[in-house]
Amino acid sequence: MEKREEGNQTIITELILRGFGDFQDLRIVIFILFLAIYILTMTGNILIVGLVVTNHSLHTPMYFFLANLSCLETFYSSTILPKVLVSSLTAERAISIPGCIAQFYFFTALVVTECGLLAMMSYDRYVAICKPLHYGTHMTAKRCVHMAAGCWITGFLAMSVMMYLMTRLTFCGPNEIEHFFCDFTPVAKIACSESQEFELMGFIFSTIFTVPTFLLTLTSYTFIVTTILRIPSATGRKKAFSTCSSHLFVVTIYYGTLIIVYVLPNNENMRKLNKVFSVFYTILTPLVNPLIYSLRNREVKVCLRKSVGKLTNGIWSKEIQGTVFSLGWNPKSP
Ligand SMILES: *[C@@H]1O[C@H](CO)[C@@H](O)[C@H](O)[C@H]1NC(C)=O
Repeated sequence: MEKREEGNQTIITELILRGFGDFQDLRIVIFILFLAIYILTMTGNILIVGLVVTNHSLHTPMYFFLANLSCLETFYSSTILPKVLVSSLTAERAISIPGCIAQFYFFTALVVTECGLLAMMSYDRYVAICKPLHYGTHMTAKRCVHMAAGCWITGFLAMSVMMYLMTRLTFCGPNEIEHFFCDFTPVAKIACSESQEFELMGFIFSTIFTVPTFLLTLTSYTFIVTTILRIPSATGRKKAFSTCSSHLFVVTIYYGTLIIVYVLPNNENMRKLNKVFSVFYTILTPLVNPLIYSLRNREVKVCLRKSVGKLTNGIWSKEIQGTVFSLGWNPKSP
């Protein structure tokens, strides 16, 4: 109850995100690095959504999920990186409390959605590789849309409960958050009001959304690997294995860091490390996912080459037309 009395003294309306404040001298380097990451992430993911939407040969369940994931990654990156960029450039580190709540809500809802989508994608690969005869009847377009929609709705509904609990927190004491975005634990730590409910619900949600999806993903990949090992040709086996292991690697880093940060108990020392772990699932995953999942695929490369060809052809012919017309030559006149 002592905590509540403190709350009556000063009411804080702004929080300070310390971000990467420990590296004050490297501000410009951090800015340039994160700007490059942001531009690459947005370009890669938007490219994939564009390719999948415009190419009929990519209208399959696998690419539907990949496009959906890429679409999510653009939002995901945009909830975190613009704020990091602004604060590393201008040293303006304050964030309003509604801003903080909004960032928390969108970010966590997108994390839950991403966990679901990654699990769905691994399940899709499991059916395609281990049950190829049932693939057509099992993974229908309608079912894929339902599965993806289920992930999005679950994420945003479940996290509105967290958002509601967060709006009930009050802040009065030190208002510095030892993190680069408004995350669950750092915010709960500086709240003056009782935050047990918020912390308990956060723990329950992070456990039920990360652990089962991770296990589902691992199980799918285990079945996939055992099936691949039975492929007779050595080169086919090697190729399938390399694709599979790179997927498994990024998925493990993603879920692994999420589970370390949100599910495992953490003490004072862990909290500093958590900031580093957070960089993996907030900043690096959206950057590498398009590279690992899509841009390495032969089908995507073919479509990309075709699209680039069409685009440069278009520009080229317009350029020629422009030059020709500026010379005053009208091809229609005799
Ligand atoms: C992602 O999935 C949702 C729900 O099924 C759908 O409405 C949306 O159009 C999909 N987006 C892309 C880019 O495929």
